Amino acid sequence: MEIIIQQNKQAASVAAARVVARLVSEKPDAVLGLATGSTPLPLYAELIRMHREVGLDFSAVTTFNLDEYVGLEKEHEQSYHSFMWQNLFSQININPDKIHIPDGMTTDVPACCAAYEQAIVDAGGIDLQILGIGSDGHIGFNEPTSSFASRTRIKTLTQETVADNARFFDGDESKVPRHCITMGIGTIMAARSNIMLAFGGGKAEAIAAMVEGPVAAMVPASILQHHRNAKVFIDDAAAAQLKRADYYRWVYAGKPDWQQDA
Ligand code: F6R
Repeated sequence: MEIIIQQNKQAASVAAARVVARLVSEKPDAVLGLATGSTPLPLYAELIRMHREVGLDFSAVTTFNLDEYVGLEKEHEQSYHSFMWQNLFSQININPDKIHIPDGMTTDVPACCAAYEQAIVDAGGIDLQILGIGSDGHIGFNEPTSSFASRTRIKTLTQETVADNARFFDGDESKVPRHCITMGIGTIMAARSNIMLAFGGGKAEAIAAMVEGPVAAMVPASILQHHRNAKVFIDDAAAAQLKRADYYRWVYAGKPDWQQDA
């Protein structure tokens, strides 16, 4: 795991965007895994800026979103479908045929999940997966005790996640769907690279457990310790509980030029 600590979320997001941009420039038909929530917003804003100002080209890129709420129409303002169109897709030159988001209204969840996994395989696998982390350590909506071998499937949100996400539903927990379809931890681990972003003191405990704690199903994100190419972009506040923060800063400051953005 490479831990990249920046002063604020803007700087961390710009650094993460450079990694995405380098991949898309070198491999125009790259397959990206995408996340929703508040964390990736500055990263998406930077990708939109790069598209507008330096012509970063998404026309051949394929995307797969991590997850979607069960029971929300695509058009619902809090569906992850709406989120992605509002915050990224409508502002870049992506081909709508190459966008994949689980269908939260499917009448056949197992078949929908199996088809999603197959579509990832058919696309050649995910080159780079963007991740956020829940305050309970989840990635995607793989809540604590999720199997490390899991693939796309239905999951039940924890009470903690329902409470965290109520801010998107007028602060009303009863409006937050209880179920979601999410890529599994095995799906995420199969991506050729992962980049995790986390900002603010509310993520500090989860980040410390993920980076420096034991690998355990109670902290789903900790499995990234076993990934060959996982980068973690965090701000000072999210780094606050890391015992080796100074070491991670020292390593990043000494990174050779040829390795930047790689
Ligand atoms: C979203 C997702 C979740 C979020 C996590 C953090 O697609 O998969 O794992 O990344 O819940 O959410 P925010 O960024 O809102 O704190």
